[in-house]
Amino acid sequence: MTQETPDAPSEFSPAANPDVVEMFNRISRTYDRLNRVFSMGVDRLWRRSAVKEMKLRDGMKILDCSAGTGDMSFEAVRQCAGVEVTLFDPAEKMLEIGKVKAEKKGITNFRYEVGAAEKIEHSDGEFDRFMVAFGIRNFADLRAGMRELARVTKAGGCGVVLEFTPDRSALIDKIFRAYMWRVMRPVGGAWSKERGAYAYLAKTIQNFPPTPELTNLFAECGFSRVEAKPLSFGIATQFLLVK
Ligand SMILES: C[S@@+](CC[C@H](N)C(=O)[O-])C[C@H]1O[C@@H](n2cnc3c(N)ncnc32)[C@H](O)[C@@H]1O
Repeated sequence: MTQETPDAPSEFSPAANPDVVEMFNRISRTYDRLNRVFSMGVDRLWRRSAVKEMKLRDGMKILDCSAGTGDMSFEAVRQCAGVEVTLFDPAEKMLEIGKVKAEKKGITNFRYEVGAAEKIEHSDGEFDRFMVAFGIRNFADLRAGMRELARVTKAGGCGVVLEFTPDRSALIDKIFRAYMWRVMRPVGGAWSKERGAYAYLAKTIQNFPPTPELTNLFAECGFSRVEAKPLSFGIATQFLLVK
């Protein structure tokens, strides 16, 4: 990972976290199915709630950062058909699955771009909205990625971040951890044939900073207002970030 000054974007390229990117490429084919099974469909409700928060309007340009197979983008066009969405992710194979899904649905207002959050090749203020669902945990440099997202968002624009956060009640945390380590890790590992990937998932979820720390970090990265809302007893948190 490159060092950077507080105001300059890092000289980051996806090659800075190649193992993570490769891992997502390898699990791309089973990703959607396992997501649905493990979340028991609740991820759809979380996406719906996060996208609703951005109050989309026709003609808006949206950056779906860490788009993966595109589920946030599909939710965005479901809520507002007239938006233009850029699906942006360093894992090419995840985007390819998203593209096949979009073609099947006849969606034509998606663009696809391979790239990492730490260096977004777009001009300042180019997007009205951005979204990152379960992506920030994978950034090689969280601050650099968030600063880039603030930079490419227009003044007065906003974005949403969805992420698993560790600040749930002790009981829910205990249940969630047991589910992650005893169900998701072995079943996900066996199903996708990528044991490392589901151990990575459980470890990164467990070690991620709590909501107040993330809220401060987002504010330091160029957002004037940050609102956090716990989802499903605090298993995940939805952040609204206004520039
Ligand atoms: C758990 S998936 C989430 C995909 C999708 N947003 C969803 O909700 O299903 C995380 C995504 O983060 C991407 N990612 C990894 N490193 C990244 C980086 N440095 N910048 C942006 N995205 C990254 C991965 O390639 C992967 O597609």
